[in-house]
Amino acid sequence: MQKIQGSMKSCLQPMPKILVSCRDNNGKNNALAVAYCCNCSYDPPMIMVGIVPSRYSYKIIKETGIFVVNLVGNEQKEMFDYLGSHSGRDEDKFSKFNIKVEEGLKVNAPLLADCPVNIECKVVNSIVTGSHEMFVGKIEYVHSDKTIVDNQGNIDFSKIKFL
Ligand SMILES: Cc1cc2nc3c(=O)[nH]c(=O)nc-3n(C[C@H](O)[C@H](O)[C@H](O)COP(=O)(O)O)c2cc1C
Repeated sequence: MQKIQGSMKSCLQPMPKILVSCRDNNGKNNALAVAYCCNCSYDPPMIMVGIVPSRYSYKIIKETGIFVVNLVGNEQKEMFDYLGSHSGRDEDKFSKFNIKVEEGLKVNAPLLADCPVNIECKVVNSIVTGSHEMFVGKIEYVHSDKTIVDNQGNIDFSKIKFL
């Protein structure tokens, strides 16, 4: 194999495709598509999402310190594409797309009811890395579709057909 120099942008692949949902202080729900995300601590359980400051969701998460990571399967592709290409600055995306919502148990933020897994998080730190600000979220609660978990609560990720 002969190697030549590759592009440095987003060179770690594959990138996950998730939806991050949030709620502003006036009660308006919003969500956006996110590919910059990862596990960042096992104990305590934490995950990190990267949001560009120009996103409408950025200000909400910065102000409330709350977000929900929603794992997305093939069935949610249309919703993913919509939320990733429209801004809550211009419209109420949840009413426009008729998004089904459930309430967080530990946080004041919407769960996307159709997604198989919803992870409630509270921001404990953030790092401006460059184009993105990485919000470190302590996991407060994980909701999983009961058909994909065993009796210890372990998620069988092979049962989700990820985008
Ligand atoms: C596949 C995909 C991945 C994306 N990843 C990110 C991301 O990691 N961070 C980010 O800030 N925006 C990302 N975006 C863009 C936002 O989802 C998009 O700009 C969205 O419309 C912002 O919504 P908002 O202004 O309502 O917050 C991604 C979009 C797509 C389609």
